[in-house]
Amino acid sequence: MDAFTFQPPGGSAGCYNNALIMRKYHADRGEAHRDEVITTIFSHPCDAATPATAGYKVVTLYPDPETGLPDTEALKEAVGPRTAGCFITNPEDIGIFNKHIDEWTGIIHEAGGLCSYDQANANAIMGVTRAREAGFDMLFFNLHKTFSSPHGSSGPGSAAVGVTKMLEEYLPSPVIMKKDGIYRLDYDRPKSIGKVRDFMGNLPVVVRSYAWCMAMGAKGLREAAEVSMINNQYLLEKVKKIRGVSLTYPAHRVDQARLSLEQMKRDTGIGIGDVNRRVVDYGVQSFFTSHHPWLIPEPFTPEPCETYSKADIDYWCAVLEKVSEEAYSDPELVKSAPHNSCIHKITWDGFNDPDRWAMSWRAYKKKEMKK
Ligand SMILES: Cc1ncc(COP(=O)(O)O)c(C=O)c1O
Repeated sequence: MDAFTFQPPGGSAGCYNNALIMRKYHADRGEAHRDEVITTIFSHPCDAATPATAGYKVVTLYPDPETGLPDTEALKEAVGPRTAGCFITNPEDIGIFNKHIDEWTGIIHEAGGLCSYDQANANAIMGVTRAREAGFDMLFFNLHKTFSSPHGSSGPGSAAVGVTKMLEEYLPSPVIMKKDGIYRLDYDRPKSIGKVRDFMGNLPVVVRSYAWCMAMGAKGLREAAEVSMINNQYLLEKVKKIRGVSLTYPAHRVDQARLSLEQMKRDTGIGIGDVNRRVVDYGVQSFFTSHHPWLIPEPFTPEPCETYSKADIDYWCAVLEKVSEEAYSDPELVKSAPHNSCIHKITWDGFNDPDRWAMSWRAYKKKEMKK
């Protein structure tokens, strides 16, 4: 890409940033009637949610039900004169990489749209593929995910948003310019979408990621991608053999995979929520299940990345196997977990009941203190 901003404070914010750029680009060309964006159901939910927040109607494509691969024929049917662009995660959140992505960007461009690439999770593709050569006009990376800055406990986050020359003038202001050998902040950017975050974004995250990239070098970054792929293939082969576990779509996975405990749930009544509480009793952290809504029943999405050793992965798989044995022999033990944790079982019922949500202190007072 030709120009970057580090202002957005997270991946979804970076995605929203790109939706604003897309909207402004089309408005400037007198094509504000383009009000539809296309995404895939297994792209990250922000690829649908943030264009919707920017005012777009979202067209969501489903994969080929046999293979799980994104469906190019469905894309051809979805594009039209109202297409503003696409927001695509690749590899998708279920771990499948769309090898025909350049055909997809070609179809969107032909319809007059722009292509935004969600590379938040770039472990599989770092130093391997290039967004621009795949036809993308915009992208974002999550520095707090792929580039070593911590993702957990709210980061803080930072998205590196890159655009091609054609879209550079729309980047949030200010941008850093070099003039007469001196770096300056340039605020004089009449076409900019404005500010998306106070000051310059979350600068410490950027510095940490920069230091990491320089320490790794180009070869090291590619090696990290390769190791994350190997780690995942190894983990996947072991996990697939555990009783009650299945991989929903057969297509090849790269650095992560969404699996299912549907069979275990059917056999024993034990689902992913129970298993995820029980694993902490063996000293491993509970893991990512899936975004909502759950399209894959009882889902879970392990992602070993490049950081875990073979011994770590073996231990993790052994824990999952042990919990599976427990689910089949003594389901109550798993249902009532955790048993060794300082925080006991938390009920989740409130999560699906908007009447019980209180997003602010004022909302809490209004709802709870009146009772
Ligand atoms: C593929 C993908 N896109 C977008 C995001 C959203 O990033 P954030 O949580 O920083 O908003 C994530 C989150 O991890 C992600 O994995």
